[in-house]
Amino acid sequence: MNALSRLVRTLRQHGLPILLLACGAASARAQTIDNARALQNYTLNCMGCHSPTGAGVAGKIPPLRHALGYFMHLPQGREFAVRVPGASNSALDDSELAEVVNWLLISYNREELPADFRPYTAEEVARLRRPALAEVAQRRAHLVEMLHRQGITDVKPSY
Ligand code: HEC
Repeated sequence: MNALSRLVRTLRQHGLPILLLACGAASARAQTIDNARALQNYTLNCMGCHSPTGAGVAGKIPPLRHALGYFMHLPQGREFAVRVPGASNSALDDSELAEVVNWLLISYNREELPADFRPYTAEEVARLRRPALAEVAQRRAHLVEMLHRQGITDVKPSY
């Protein structure tokens, strides 16, 4: 029996609210970023397209620096970032994908994040990542338009 099931059993014996506590523990785990593991997962699953520095490839692959942080100003943007096919269909599990995206945001998009930014949890990623987006370009254009309407004009429609 692992530590969590032991904890759950103890809590159940004492009639404590297990669900709430168990969820809290899982979220806290996903939000703790292990930089070395995130970098390794990025290298194996994202870097081939997005380049080692996350700069992307002009006209073909969007950068994962700077602009990505602006999308976090919109709930639809949080969804977008984990539903693009490269993220949604990656071999990473929900917790690993949450970690890689949180790591990208906190390491390379810090200035662009909203003041009330909350890192992704594994649960949020599980809820949002599927199905992978089919109309990525249209969705992105729509989000950029929404951001522009909110006065966030630094994010460009093209990359
Ligand atoms: C096979 C190439 C490929 C891989 C691998 C890949 N991506 Fe992408 N990614 C793209 C392309 C191309 C786009 C542009 C949208 C589209 O056409 O899917 C994109 C878009 C994105 C976007 C939206 C950025 C924006 O400004 O529009 C995010 C976020 C993203 N990818 C994250 C990731 C993450 C995280 C991984 C690794 C888990 C990853 N991608 C792996 C090719 C890839």
